[in-house]
Amino acid sequence: MSNTPPSPRPAKRSWAEPWKVKMVEPLKTLTAAQRSQAIRDAGYNTFLLKSDDCYIDLLTDSGTSAMSDWQWAGMMLGDEAYAGSRNFYNLEAAIQKYYGYKYITPTHQGRGAENILSQICIKPGDTVPGNMYFTTTRHHQEAAGGTFVDIVIPEAHDPKSEHPFKGNVDVKALEALIEKVGAKKIPYVCVAATVNMAGGQPISMENMRAVRALTSKHGINIFLDATRAVENAWFIKQREPGYEKKSVAEILLEFCNLSDGCTMSGKKDALVNIGGWLALNDRGLYDEASNLVVVYEGLHTYGGMAGRDMEAMARGIVESVQDDHMRARIGQVEYLGEKLHSWGVPVVRPIGGHAVYLDAKAFYPHLKQDQFPAQALAAYLYEDSGVRAMERGIVSAGRSKTTGEHYYPKLELVRLTIPRRVYTQAHMDVTAESVAAVWDARATAKGLKMIYEPKYLRFFQAKFEQLG
Ligand code: F0G
Repeated sequence: MSNTPPSPRPAKRSWAEPWKVKMVEPLKTLTAAQRSQAIRDAGYNTFLLKSDDCYIDLLTDSGTSAMSDWQWAGMMLGDEAYAGSRNFYNLEAAIQKYYGYKYITPTHQGRGAENILSQICIKPGDTVPGNMYFTTTRHHQEAAGGTFVDIVIPEAHDPKSEHPFKGNVDVKALEALIEKVGAKKIPYVCVAATVNMAGGQPISMENMRAVRALTSKHGINIFLDATRAVENAWFIKQREPGYEKKSVAEILLEFCNLSDGCTMSGKKDALVNIGGWLALNDRGLYDEASNLVVVYEGLHTYGGMAGRDMEAMARGIVESVQDDHMRARIGQVEYLGEKLHSWGVPVVRPIGGHAVYLDAKAFYPHLKQDQFPAQALAAYLYEDSGVRAMERGIVSAGRSKTTGEHYYPKLELVRLTIPRRVYTQAHMDVTAESVAAVWDARATAKGLKMIYEPKYLRFFQAKFEQLG
């Protein structure tokens, strides 16, 4: 018998996944020398690594989720007709029921919807306010001739702030902007739920109501980036007084009801590997959108998606709004984040919905931002263990169209993005231990030099060399 006293039991009971595993996919591990070679060959850009060379792949939660047996069964019911596939009508019904919008066209993924919405709504010289930029969203807004203006609350740019809704719109800033440029020059306000670039941070119902009241006064539309709106609904349930007893599904519907439509990357919340949609409540705008979809995506009843993929997405929506799914989904992300936080590793607070974000400026205060500290940190993490993360800092921010200079975002982050229903708690432990090892070695970290910079969305394909 050991004399060790029993350790205290946690005050809170554990969450666990509301599913069990039916099929597994083997993972490969490379040696440390092979990993060093692989990341050098990839130009220190984790987007250029082969998936086969990654052990735990936390690059993105986009299209990387595991589907359920019910979704896979739905794949066999694909109606691959060019026009009017029955799976389209199932998808349309699911979006109408759970998101509440009237008119829907599928798109091949989120950025397809962003392109269509930007083209039909934005005129050259327009201003598009949003609660922090997202890479592809801003790209399409600017390609259509608009100028993006950030109207997120200042707390969103502070990794240490514990504000429960760091995705909130700064309503006063929005009001001032409307006054300055005039409502006619603002085709819509783009509200993201949750805010990816701020760390997967939610926006509150109260704030959304205030944005609705202000925009209604000026006749301005709100289009939601609903990519992670179900995760946003879970945070409202957890953190906003009056919503504790409401279901995620009820909150989602109430939230979307405060907007005029949405763009959606189904590859996140909706638990599928590909797909998206554009939803609109205005018939005239929908007619324009469904006409343009034909040019870029495909007929308005498939928008670049196979029938079977639309069925999987329709079913994924139903599964995504279940409270027990969200409890486990966000519970796993919080488990990893709180563990790192308790070890003193600097992470964005509070822990977000889809990812844990490492604060690269706090890791490497000796590196200047144009030595790409977050890009370097993601490379070191891969070298340590084969865990693949991604940069969300100066490389992702890109350059100003007008001055040609880098944008210098306040947040210089590495994102550990958790795919849904894919990895176990033990994978989270291994990840945390690897991050801690990289944290311990922080003093000797070297910066990077960019040696190849593509014209669009450079973070996907840029290449780097290590500084001496
Ligand atoms: N909006 C948000 C908030 C996103 O996170 C993404 C994609 C998109 C729009 C575009 O959707 O990829 O389907 O075209 N985010 C991925 C990520 C790429 O890794 O965060 P898409």
